[in-house]
Amino acid sequence: MRQHVNPLSSNFNEIERLPSLSEMFGNSKLNLHLDIGCAAGEYLFDLALVNTSWNYLGIEIREKLVKNAKLKVFEREIKNLYFVFGNVNNISNDVRSEFIFKNLKSISFNFPDPWFKKRHYKRRVIQPEFINVLSNLLQKGTLIFIKTDVKELFDYMDSTISNNFYFKEIEKKDLNYSESFNPSKVKTNREKYVIVNQLDIFERIYIKI
Ligand SMILES: C[S@@+](CC[C@H](N)C(=O)[O-])C[C@H]1O[C@@H](n2cnc3c(N)ncnc32)[C@H](O)[C@@H]1O
Repeated sequence: MRQHVNPLSSNFNEIERLPSLSEMFGNSKLNLHLDIGCAAGEYLFDLALVNTSWNYLGIEIREKLVKNAKLKVFEREIKNLYFVFGNVNNISNDVRSEFIFKNLKSISFNFPDPWFKKRHYKRRVIQPEFINVLSNLLQKGTLIFIKTDVKELFDYMDSTISNNFYFKEIEKKDLNYSESFNPSKVKTNREKYVIVNQLDIFERIYIKI
C-alpha cells in the first residue's frame, strides 16, 4: 500500500522553479500533454517512447518518485519527457508556471486519489478553484481527460468541471485518437489493475471553449 500525501500540507507551498519549455524538451514546438498525479511516470515513459511527436510533462506530489523519474529520463536521454514535483493546485496558482498551462494541448487526470471521507474532500486534486484557474489559463480547444474507478469521485469531478461554463463534454466517438496524446491507448498502472480485476472505469473528455 502506498503512502498518501496530504496535498494541503505546508511542505508543498514552495514551488520548484520551472525551466523554460526549450530547456525541458529537445523540441519545444511539439504538442504538449500534462499528466497530473503521474506517480512514478511509467505511463508517460511508455507514451513518450512511442509518440516522439509529442512532449509529455508529469506533475507528482511525491518527491522521491519525481527524483527517480528525472534520473531515468536523464540516463535514457529522453528528450520529450519532463517531470515536475509539487502540488499541481499550488503550481497552477504561481505566475511563474502559467506558461505551462498556456501551452498545453491536453491534460489527463488518471485515477486521482478519491479521499473518501467528507472532511478530506478538499484534498482532492480537482477543485472548483483549480478548474477556474485552468479555464483562465488554457487555450480554446485544450482537452481534459478524466478517468477513475470510483463512481462517486467521477460524479464529483464531472460536476465540478461541467459547472464551469468554459468546459464542454465531448463524446469519445468524436475524438480522433490518432491525433491525440495517446493514439495507441497506453494504459496507466492503476488502469491495468482495474482491468485485471474487472472493475468499472468511468471516464469523460472535456474541451475548453
Ligand atoms: C491513485 S494514484 C494514480 C497514479 C497514476 N495516475 C495511475 O493511474 O496509475 C494518484 C497520484 O496522484 C498524486 N497526487 C495526488 N494529489 C496530487 C496533487 N495535488 N498534485 C500532484 N500529484 C498529486 C498522488 O501522489 C498519486 O501518485
